[in-house]
Amino acid sequence: MDETKNMVNNDFKDIMLNRHSYRNFKKDVKISREELSEMLEEAITAPSACNLQSWHFVVCDDAEGKQKAHSVVMPFNYPQVDSASAIIFVLGDTQSHYKYRDVWNKACENGQISPEERDKVFKTFLPLYEHADRSFLEKDATIDGSMAAMQLLLTARAHGYEANPMSGYYFDKVASTLGLDSERYIPITAVAIGKPEKTYTKSVRYNVKDVSEFI
Ligand SMILES: Cc1cc2nc3c(=O)[nH]c(=O)nc-3n(C[C@H](O)[C@H](O)[C@H](O)COP(=O)(O)O)c2cc1C
Repeated sequence: MDETKNMVNNDFKDIMLNRHSYRNFKKDVKISREELSEMLEEAITAPSACNLQSWHFVVCDDAEGKQKAHSVVMPFNYPQVDSASAIIFVLGDTQSHYKYRDVWNKACENGQISPEERDKVFKTFLPLYEHADRSFLEKDATIDGSMAAMQLLLTARAHGYEANPMSGYYFDKVASTLGLDSERYIPITAVAIGKPEKTYTKSVRYNVKDVSEFI
């Protein structure tokens, strides 16, 4: 797949600095599943701990999916959920280490790493996850998923859309409503994507001096 086929904006400065949360979208704008898949393809180039890729996405782009999305978000998120072309739920996969061998076997088959290097990865990283407690797995998956979600926000702009990340939803209802195992998958965020209806209000940031230090 040429995942950059539908990118219309290659200006990183514009994409990053002019990203804002849009909460009202033009209704009835359809984004094809092919293009939504391209955006996901781009989003999952994100880094992840040990390349575990502990993310999972559920795309709600038709009436039934959007109704499900509506049913789990808090009312203040109805405007963006009800007007977006698609709402993409980003979840963390707390069992991604079960399939972890696949990615390294593939790298090995591709000739990118030797069998010895692959086995070293298995010995070094897999036990970390196999012996991890629930909170470690959840934290790891949350960080991985957040990395991909950020990329999704940016690539949505590269495709000519605007977006809004949302975590204002009923956490315990998300996975089961989306048809997923709620033991395995934890909600991280949901991204509403579409063509904006209204202009944005630029949000305020703290001064970098107040949130950073050089030591
Ligand atoms: C983890 C997270 C959760 C958020 N949840 C919501 C939400 O539920 N509803 C919403 O309208 N915006 C939500 N936002 C968007 C923030 O309100 C927004 O990013 C922030 O006010 C800064 O504005 P900007 O995105 O326009 O720069 C969320 C953002 C993040 C990172």
